[in-house]
Amino acid sequence: MAKAKKQFICSECGHAHPQWVGQCGQCKAWNTLQEELVVPATKREKRSGMAELQTPKVRPLHEVDVAELPRLDMGEKELNRVLGGGSVPGGVVLLGGEPGIGKSTLMLQVALAVGTSGAKVLYISGEESAEQVRMRANRLGAIAPSVLIYPQTQVPAVLDALRREKPALVVVDSIQTLDLPDQDGVPGSVGQIRESAAALTTYAKASGTPLYMVGHITKEGSLAGPKVLEHMVDVVLQFEGDRHHAYRMLRAAKNRFGTTAELGIYEMTGEGLASVDHPSEVLLGERGSAESGSAVAVSLQGVRPILVETQALVSTAVYGTPQRSGTGFDLRRLNMLLAVLEKRCAFKLGQFDVFLNLAGGLKIQDPANDLAVVAAILSSTLNTPLDNRTCFAGEVGLSGEIRPVPRLEQRMMEAARLGMERMLVSGHGSHPKAPKGLTVVPVKRVSEVHRVIF
Ligand code: TYD
Ligand code: MG
Repeated sequence: MAKAKKQFICSECGHAHPQWVGQCGQCKAWNTLQEELVVPATKREKRSGMAELQTPKVRPLHEVDVAELPRLDMGEKELNRVLGGGSVPGGVVLLGGEPGIGKSTLMLQVALAVGTSGAKVLYISGEESAEQVRMRANRLGAIAPSVLIYPQTQVPAVLDALRREKPALVVVDSIQTLDLPDQDGVPGSVGQIRESAAALTTYAKASGTPLYMVGHITKEGSLAGPKVLEHMVDVVLQFEGDRHHAYRMLRAAKNRFGTTAELGIYEMTGEGLASVDHPSEVLLGERGSAESGSAVAVSLQGVRPILVETQALVSTAVYGTPQRSGTGFDLRRLNMLLAVLEKRCAFKLGQFDVFLNLAGGLKIQDPANDLAVVAAILSSTLNTPLDNRTCFAGEVGLSGEIRPVPRLEQRMMEAARLGMERMLVSGHGSHPKAPKGLTVVPVKRVSEVHRVIF
């Protein structure tokens, strides 16, 4: 027998090197190479036992019948929305998130919901025992008899169970706990994760079963395991939020079957995750009486406008170097806005600490939030509250100009619906007609904002 071939895989980007080096030649990360045996591609198919099922043939594209692909309703409105309307047969989804954020809860909830329609669901639990999963399920709702649990980490046993049970939906929690005996390395190592995922993906594709894999996130915020995992799957979902807040956001970082612009919002309750249908009401509902440093931004997530409260606290720096911190807001963007305020409005904040917070712990990235952030900073610095029926939607450019933002009409409608009376928008270009009850105030430059809002 020929000597087994070895290679060194970067755990960051998955690039293969013939020998060990300190720095990955591809992504330049240091100390990320891990040794593993080279697996011939044919072995993967043998492993999944699906080689004989897969007989693709060459045919004209227009003859491919897409009606063959009915989507499986996941029984969860927010998840369906993010996926673009349910799961595609054979679609492989990777759900990533920090520990304790609610990945297992979400997947179990989905399993139970799909199970109630009578479809067979197989939940592979590598982290929790059947009893633990049952205890959690008790809190989440009715448990249909078609929901099966299999506490297992050995990939061959998992594949056997899949071939035997032929479920309509498979959940693997988590991919990092899986173990392939004929693959080098401990469970959770790059090779193990990649090959386990490959074997499961081959099964999913060949049998047309939607498959969900839960993946952990590293300290740096990327999915543990090589980037190749992200290439292998069809959809990468990220479950994020602040663990100290009840709100969670589900978004697609990659989606072969739909848009990545959609966002699902959940609230963690005593009975699992509840979808939040009207996020603006919830996010603004926490707002008290008018305080200085608070401004309402009309953001857009996917195609949904969401009103969020932006809070700024500007105070004299105690230490030599002023602190800048932003929860839910990009720090570099905050620094940029402070620089613009200093240069274009002569608002010197160099001696002050600036803290910024988007209420609800949500990370909502939309350049349209800039204007609200600027207003909140001005309000806190001058210790003057803003009118709490005024909201903002505008991007701030480096020369202090306020730029128009997309989908202004939807934003205006949502603002009006929530009882806003005034909305500051970019004065460049024309804006759509405002809905009843809402006055639109166009501003062209950051230096004008101060005059308009106080
Ligand atoms: P979990 O799904 O175990 O997180 P992950 O799989 O991402 O590590 O969720 C853990 C948290 O969710 C835990 O701290 C308790 C909380 N939780 C609730 O608040 N309500 C519930 O009904 C459930 C099941 C969990
Ligand atoms: Mg878990």
